[in-house]
Amino acid sequence: MSGKKRVAVLISGRGSNMTALIEAAKARDYPCEIALVLSNRPDARGLGTAKAEGIEAVALDHKQFSGRECFERAMQATLVAHGIELVALAGFMRLLTPWFVGQWDGRMINIHPALLPSFKGLHTHERAMEAGCKIHGCTVHWVTPGMDEGPIIAQAALAVRGDDTPDSLAARVLGLEHKLYPAALAHVATNGYAEATLPAGEALFGI
Ligand code: GAR
Repeated sequence: MSGKKRVAVLISGRGSNMTALIEAAKARDYPCEIALVLSNRPDARGLGTAKAEGIEAVALDHKQFSGRECFERAMQATLVAHGIELVALAGFMRLLTPWFVGQWDGRMINIHPALLPSFKGLHTHERAMEAGCKIHGCTVHWVTPGMDEGPIIAQAALAVRGDDTPDSLAARVLGLEHKLYPAALAHVATNGYAEATLPAGEALFGI
């Protein structure tokens, strides 16, 4: 036994944050192994990436289920069958019911491309620019039933440039996400729910 926490990464598409977690988990002293990648979309590009890395990659097409509850019960059965201890949402674009969230209370985290509690939901980079934000970034937080509402674990920030577009800002924030998420997951795996707030200074970089 490696003693590493068994993590499932849930994706819906590209999977670049998933790749960052897979890469980080290759380090011998990283406290997690990526034991499963699960997608609600069979065409998610990240599934191929995970398979190429030798990681079990499962697609559960939500459209093939009669409702949200059936879909989530299938996800739950898959997670349990793989002995998963922690769930990391990484661009997983399905709303989760309180039932599913309750199964993973204190054991499920998400990355969001904004400095929560500002800009929950979609189109965060456009909205941050429209609001005239001078600082923008990303957040890793615990998942609770309210969308993008759970307690904040870690954030990373950068300065918005005068010549930024939503796309250029998105690209730079994504670079930050790829650093923040592996650090936050390691912290959570090591410290658990109660202690999992990164000390100030460790959580902020990128300006
Ligand atoms: C990431 O920017 C992630 O923060 C965002 O989706 C993107 C997925 O990219 N998540 C959300 O908006 C969730 N509310 P990736 O598939 O390349 O990791």
